[in-house]
Amino acid sequence: MLNISNLKLSYGAGNVVHGVDLHVEKGEIVAIIGSNGAGKSTILKGISNLIPRKEGKIMFAGKDISKVAPEKISEIGISHVPEGRRIFNEMTVEENLLLGGYHRSRNVIKEDLERIYGLFAILKERKKQRAGNLSGGEQQMLAIGRALMAKPSFLMLDEPSLGLAPLMIKSVFELVDQIHQEGMTILLIEQNVKLAMKYADRIYVLQSGKLVYEGTPAELAAEDEIMHVYLGARRV
Ligand SMILES: Nc1ncnc2c1ncn2[C@@H]1O[C@H](COP(=O)(O)OP(=O)(O)OP(=O)(O)O)[C@@H](O)[C@H]1O
Ligand SMILES: [Mg+2]
Repeated sequence: MLNISNLKLSYGAGNVVHGVDLHVEKGEIVAIIGSNGAGKSTILKGISNLIPRKEGKIMFAGKDISKVAPEKISEIGISHVPEGRRIFNEMTVEENLLLGGYHRSRNVIKEDLERIYGLFAILKERKKQRAGNLSGGEQQMLAIGRALMAKPSFLMLDEPSLGLAPLMIKSVFELVDQIHQEGMTILLIEQNVKLAMKYADRIYVLQSGKLVYEGTPAELAAEDEIMHVYLGARRV
């Protein structure tokens, strides 16, 4: 579904991502793990074309998407839940959700809203409330719900567990798992190695803008050196 070759990205001076090759097959959850500043979020921004400077090729569903404008990316089926959620605090929960479906026709949007409320009971309960009053975990659910309103075939999640209490992380990941079971293909950025290993089909390890490992969770678990050297403090 997604095929990236020799991707190089920079914000101006010097590359931050140095020639990454990565693929995600339909129906997979693929995780990218790696320490702070490794370039994980930058790769997602590169796929969404939020960063102009780029070398390499990004193919999605058989098409080169390097030239698709960032505001058109959701129209081809890619939804990006950015790091830090970026919901609109002053708007209601429902208004935030509606923003996610902005490019879809009005008559299907109501149906989509109901589907999201079916998945996320808490959002239904709070639909008229100011989004900024939701807890961190609820805001993460809202960000995912908003991304799903675009009816994507491919969902990119940037550190959905960040800053959440363990119980909330569990709820968020159970939902991610459910969305995956229903057929969604997912590219997940996660610093919590334990979560990545529990939910992903395959894992890439990113170190200083380079992929240094790719394998299944079971294969990765057997890689003592990588588990220790690259993920030391977070070893599970
Ligand atoms: N807008 C920006 N302008 C300039 N440099 C940036 C910008 N955003 C990120 N960088 C730099 O690019 C590198 C990779 O950042 P990125 O956000 O991709 O890391 P990350 O792996 O997602 O880290 P984290 O786990 O902390 O989210 C870092 O050195 C960062 O300082
Ligand atoms: Mg990041």
